[in-house]
Amino acid sequence: MNGTDPEPVRAAVAPLLEVRDLRSGYAGSTVLQGVDLVVQRGEAVALLGRNGSGRSTLARALMGLQESQGERLWRGESLRGLPPHRVARLGLGYVPESRDIFPGLTVRQNLLLGLQPQRRTPRWTLQDSWRMFPALQAREHTAAGRLSGGEQQMLTLCRTLVGDPDLVIVDEPAEGLAPQLVDRLARCLADLHARGLALLLIEQKLALALTVCQRCLVMGRGTIVFNGSPRALREREDLRQEWLGL
Ligand SMILES: Nc1ncnc2c1ncn2[C@@H]1O[C@H](COP(=O)(O)OP(=O)(O)OP(=O)(O)O)[C@@H](O)[C@H]1O
Ligand SMILES: [Mg+2]
Repeated sequence: MNGTDPEPVRAAVAPLLEVRDLRSGYAGSTVLQGVDLVVQRGEAVALLGRNGSGRSTLARALMGLQESQGERLWRGESLRGLPPHRVARLGLGYVPESRDIFPGLTVRQNLLLGLQPQRRTPRWTLQDSWRMFPALQAREHTAAGRLSGGEQQMLTLCRTLVGDPDLVIVDEPAEGLAPQLVDRLARCLADLHARGLALLLIEQKLALALTVCQRCLVMGRGTIVFNGSPRALREREDLRQEWLGL
């Protein structure tokens, strides 16, 4: 022993998120059959797959919202046994597919609930939320339940972002959004990436994923069947047909 503490060294070299042989499912059906994936600091990764391929199940298992077997490591440390709010506090943010707002609270109150006061200077502030989504600022004092579905989706995203995650898992954010809002969303995601946030973007629409992400994962049969660059995925028509139905 040389007396130095190996823990900080391990945390510095470990990927932000690493998953090994993750298995999960529901009563009577296994959905995740052994998923391996890595997300590095600041990396934007797309998680693609058909309807029902298990992407949301993976997101929930990562957050600890759903039971799973296998390894989930955050900066090299196991997340096993931690409740979702503790996982979030470590810096793993999650924006679920369903809008997750408090309908009786105002837009502003919803956002304030996302703040993590103990975190250092946040990379994404309330002001950033207003700038990116002016419709939210215009309705700052309106009950969130009265917003349109798309606005509620953006509110859910911004509430997670003001918590200053290091990696944010965003589950099908473009679903049901008007084209104009999809453009804003794409800009928002690109902006986050530019600020050093890592992204795991679950998508069905290739176009959005490919404009925002540098690496693509494809889920099929409960495992990752492709891991490569957007360019490599574009060249694999067989794979897109088989696993994405495109
Ligand atoms: N609460 C649940 N109980 C039982 N089965 C579920 C539940 N949620 C999902 N499933 C099943 O698990 C499988 C994977 O679903 P999941 O929602 O993870 O897929 P997905 O890739 O997110 O697809 P999409 O969002 O397009 O529906 C599907 O067969 C689905 O029917
Ligand atoms: Mg889903």
